[in-house]
Amino acid sequence: MNIHAPQDSSVALEEKGLWVSLHGAEAKYFNYYWLRDNCPTSFNTTTRERTFDIFHLETAPKATAAEVQGEDHVTRMPVATLDVYATGNPRFDPADLPRTAWFGDHYPDVTRFTLDELKSDKDKLGTWLEAMIVEGISVITDMPDTDDALTELANLAGAVRPTFFGNYFDVHTHINPTNTAYTAAALELHTDVPAEESAPGIQYLHMRANSVDGGLNLFGDGVAAANDFREIDPEGFRLLAETEIPFYCEHDTYDMRSYQRVIELDHHGEVSGLTISQHMLDLIDLPQEVLDDYYPAFCRFGKLLQDDKYIMKFTLKATECIVFDNHRIVHGRAAYSATSGERYLRGTYTDRAELRSTYRALISEGRFKA
Ligand SMILES: [Fe+2]
Repeated sequence: MNIHAPQDSSVALEEKGLWVSLHGAEAKYFNYYWLRDNCPTSFNTTTRERTFDIFHLETAPKATAAEVQGEDHVTRMPVATLDVYATGNPRFDPADLPRTAWFGDHYPDVTRFTLDELKSDKDKLGTWLEAMIVEGISVITDMPDTDDALTELANLAGAVRPTFFGNYFDVHTHINPTNTAYTAAALELHTDVPAEESAPGIQYLHMRANSVDGGLNLFGDGVAAANDFREIDPEGFRLLAETEIPFYCEHDTYDMRSYQRVIELDHHGEVSGLTISQHMLDLIDLPQEVLDDYYPAFCRFGKLLQDDKYIMKFTLKATECIVFDNHRIVHGRAAYSATSGERYLRGTYTDRAELRSTYRALISEGRFKA
């Protein structure tokens, strides 16, 4: 491998890597494997994927003077790339935005767009996706009363993500309910489908009809409550962030189980979300002595989460679709009178990672420019 350092730089070759001075500044170290694997010629500019297979090198890549042993390959590495990767810091991610915690008075300020605005205006689409990353909730208005409207909206952020309930779910009262949501009873604050190994990330609830008495919608920011809990009760916070507890969802043809932490932290150590559901919490199978501390902490947090400080209460109107981060935002419903009118919600999910991907692609050019 010929290392073509810029004119103002010098190179010092070592056993496993080389030192190169970029822009005449202090020399930075680069590993030979990294240099060879990430040579711009290793990538196909059409697919934007790496086509070079480092597993098939017969000898370890090593620059001696200006050549790699056993391979005649010339690497021309842009200095801008070396600048970015010299320090070992994570690659910049435009979707890694700090979350803004919100509280029970947030409803008038919830991000709102019409479906047509999101379909026709890339700037508004970007603003919506950003709000979903930062605040984790939005309301889309003027939704047509059709099944397709929900799919069209979801597809603006990603592909529909099926669960074991299927691609979509319809929430109205059932004669033989398999889930509390399908009754007219109150539904406690929860995140959806915690029994799945990786619960769906973004939830969409399209209100198709709502003329019943009661059934107030309840939404709260798990990040706001967990951040406060961290301050008030650090030991309880630690237990909920480190201990995995079992969730289940079981009926005639399925028996889904998983272990989850109630408080989820991101790679910065910040609270990124919650997994909580009273109606899908399995019998906790931790040693009973551990429960002496865990259960009181769990209840302290559960009580805090229900405080009016955190919970928006409103009526989602027909034609509106609420979109929220299912790993962060808890949702629930007050009881309603099933005979007082019609109430029909159609729901679906996409994933968090795909929403971030859509956002990045919309606002940045990525590593490879066409
Ligand atoms: Fe739910």
